[in-house]
Amino acid sequence: MMQSISAFQEARARYQPKLPAVLCEGKIGIQLGDTTQAVADEEEIRKMFPLTYGQRIAALTVGEDELSSVPLRVGVVLSGGPASGGHNVIAGLFDALKSANNDSRLFGFLQGPKGIIQGKYKELTAEVIDAYRNTGGFDMIRSGRDKIETAEDLAACEKTFAYMGLQGLVIVGGDDSNTNAAVLAEHLRAHGSATSVIGVPKTIDGDLKNEWIDTSFGYDTACKTYSELIGNICRDAASAAKYWHFIKLMGRTASYVTLECVLQTHPNVALISEEIQSQGITIEEIVDLIVDVVVKRAEVGRNYGVVVVPEGLPEFIPDIKAMIDELSTILGQDEAYIQSLPDHSERLQYLSTQLSEASAKVYSSLPPETQEVLLTRDSHGNVPLSQVETERLLIDLVSDRIRLLNAHKEKKIPFSPLSHFFGYEGRCTPPSNFDADYCYSLGYTAVQLIRANLTGYTVSIRGLIKPSDQWIAGGIPTSMMLCMEMRKGRPTLVIKKALVDLDGRAFKIYATSRGEWALKDSYLFPGPIQYFGPGEVSDCPPITLTLEDRSVMD
Ligand code: FBP
Repeated sequence: MMQSISAFQEARARYQPKLPAVLCEGKIGIQLGDTTQAVADEEEIRKMFPLTYGQRIAALTVGEDELSSVPLRVGVVLSGGPASGGHNVIAGLFDALKSANNDSRLFGFLQGPKGIIQGKYKELTAEVIDAYRNTGGFDMIRSGRDKIETAEDLAACEKTFAYMGLQGLVIVGGDDSNTNAAVLAEHLRAHGSATSVIGVPKTIDGDLKNEWIDTSFGYDTACKTYSELIGNICRDAASAAKYWHFIKLMGRTASYVTLECVLQTHPNVALISEEIQSQGITIEEIVDLIVDVVVKRAEVGRNYGVVVVPEGLPEFIPDIKAMIDELSTILGQDEAYIQSLPDHSERLQYLSTQLSEASAKVYSSLPPETQEVLLTRDSHGNVPLSQVETERLLIDLVSDRIRLLNAHKEKKIPFSPLSHFFGYEGRCTPPSNFDADYCYSLGYTAVQLIRANLTGYTVSIRGLIKPSDQWIAGGIPTSMMLCMEMRKGRPTLVIKKALVDLDGRAFKIYATSRGEWALKDSYLFPGPIQYFGPGEVSDCPPITLTLEDRSVMD
């Protein structure tokens, strides 16, 4: 008979994730520190969150005042794109609940936030949880991108929680979902609900981070997965010596994923969106930069190479960004009309009358599929950039330029490009030890915040580059991360995405090495994620995190 799980799955299920020491001590207490304020737009946000604004930073302690051990009923929802380790967050929740009181119960809302609105959930028993320990994916309860937005949605959630008798809801999500969590917490408190809302920072993009959140979960595993693949492509490029590989990496806005993978693999060319934006580099200049490396490598007989570009790039190129912003404003007013037009040529014609002359020119220069994608937004107002084929666009532009150069040259520059997009490959990988431990600790900590009856908090675990027993576990008021941003032409409440710091050590190392990496073959080959074996290989945190850590900089 065929085995129902692989030998790897069987061995991996036995892995016991590591916890910060404070969570292993039996008596867990909590200490409330300084009051907080929003990162920007303070007054506006204070008004929006009269009951949950300004709460105190929470740190878990080995407790003299042990947290309450009454049995709890807690719900969990997974929101947005999958990220490795989600199942371990749930396992951490379950184990923490049961360890405080064996009569506590955990419920999973199905298919994301709409599961709460529609009251669709299932109880997560030991049998369910055990089948998913240390596995990738969100398939235990699935995820969704719906937003809890309207007064009806909020009322429906409140009703579901009251019916289920929940003391806590844990929302596992990125910046948008944690924003939603803050709104829901405020609503529930205003309506006298007994349900606490706690957010858990998730996104492979790695851009939900700040002084209190070292990184979001899933980032480490995704970067390690892509780096393995990029390393393999680098080796193939150097072996076959005939292709230029253009690789787009997932990461909707910030270039953290690209920067980490670049430090792990040393490709010949990499674009960091934040640098492109800060220097106002145009698309023509990006093409110049790539062509220059292609030509120089050709001169020394290296007619191959690897170019890595971040998914978020289009929104950082000044003229494309201006065009996308204009489109967002137009969609904010006329989306229904635009979508009702029978075909794309009519939409194009209409938009050319609405966009500024410069933006209309940029928009019409793009391939029709890209034009179509730029007319869609998710429920949070984001452009689905993973569907924009930036890597192919760059290949076309570089090919055109090389063709022009070759027209005047006797010795032609060979240029055979291939395109790749690594994104979905890395979101459901079995979590690295780092993510397995981090996620389990996030879940375990979320339960302590609920036991402390806190609401409107996001779990914060710091010191992640240290051994896990030294991690500092607690929570921060979600409202302190909020500010206002224009989305679809309207001021919208958001958690500002963190962007790559161009003065940071990670970027600087890349910037000082890239000249050499461009011309030589300095490739590194990280190989597949190691789940077993020496800790320096299997437990290592992301390189960028190590370089950012303040204790290293002192
Ligand atoms: P989250 O922020 O929800 O975790 O999702 C991030 C992401 O993986 C982006 O990198 C990517 O642009 C997007 O999801 C793709 O979304 P979808 O799964 O809807 O195609």
